[in-house]
Amino acid sequence: MSAVASFAPRGAAPMPTPPVPTQAVPMPTVPTQAVPMPPVPAQAVPMPTVPMPPVPAHAVPMPHATTPAADSLRVRDAGIRFGELTVFEHLDFAVGEGEFVSLLGPSGCGKSTLLKAMAGLAPLSSGAIDVCSGRPGERRMALVFQKPLLLPWRTLLENVLLPAEIGLGGNAVGAADRARARRLIELVRLGGFADAYPHQLSGGMQQRAALARALMSDAEILLMDEPFGALDELTRTTLNEELLQIWRSSATRLKTVVMVTHSIAEAVALSDRVLVFSSRPARIIDTVSIAPEQPRQPDDPEVARIIKRLRASIRAVL
Ligand SMILES: Nc1ncnc2c1ncn2[C@@H]1O[C@H](COP(=O)(O)OP(=O)(O)O)[C@@H](O)[C@H]1O
Ligand SMILES: [Mg+2]
Repeated sequence: MSAVASFAPRGAAPMPTPPVPTQAVPMPTVPTQAVPMPPVPAQAVPMPTVPMPPVPAHAVPMPHATTPAADSLRVRDAGIRFGELTVFEHLDFAVGEGEFVSLLGPSGCGKSTLLKAMAGLAPLSSGAIDVCSGRPGERRMALVFQKPLLLPWRTLLENVLLPAEIGLGGNAVGAADRARARRLIELVRLGGFADAYPHQLSGGMQQRAALARALMSDAEILLMDEPFGALDELTRTTLNEELLQIWRSSATRLKTVVMVTHSIAEAVALSDRVLVFSSRPARIIDTVSIAPEQPRQPDDPEVARIIKRLRASIRAVL
């Protein structure tokens, strides 16, 4: 999917588009010849209306429609300060519905804080973050962290059921939720381990369980903070492939993924677009759209060029 297309306003977009600064995507500071980028139409420019049939809310095989219908998230002039410490300010970018965006940047620059702000868990000091997916007032989001954070006294099935239980105010879940939890456990390839306890699962299996629990909340937007950072490379590669399959499948409502990662290889393998942040106060110093089809091979000349460019961008801010 063309990530750039997510910036193109669509006649059929359901949300009114507030004015967004046309400078929302800062220009790359690394040599611009490295990756030819198609021109990004500014949101403020009126586009011809493309006649489109009415789209039922949840009937669409979303993630890989060729052009996202709208933005899922809009970060507008956002800033967060902790006392004297400015983590970021004047941050502007949008994530398209169905887009997979990775955030790369030096340790401590504010990536986790930004992700928490997107989830509504860290208050902004200035600006706004609009969550456009889902019904108004409903944040259909889920978070996955580097640590799986499973409850050790609960089985895998009981851990996955937790969001449903919380949704019911602690009341017992019904047969439909149990069946859905079991389906998600199958989806993350843990079928047969539903009654196992976390200590009986490997690190990769625990992280799969955390993903199933996140999907149980019926999220349209998945925010992941270095989800596979603690895993060995082979497990990580496998989980990357599985995540892509889940993101593409119509088995869940998942549409949009924002992932923080330290790994350029992971970002390039998974993302439609990578945003590179500077050190604090964080600003976006490079935006790279990744067009090659998955699975992406590092020796593909275009992929190699993107990896080289991202390495240069990261080096510039370390
Ligand atoms: N709740 C908090 N109170 C004070 N400072 C914080 C808080 N959360 C994060 N910070 C600071 O904000 C900066 C960004 O942190 P973080 O978002 O975790 O960075 P990253 O995820 O990019 O490594 C760090 O300097 C960190 O110490
Ligand atoms: Mg972090």
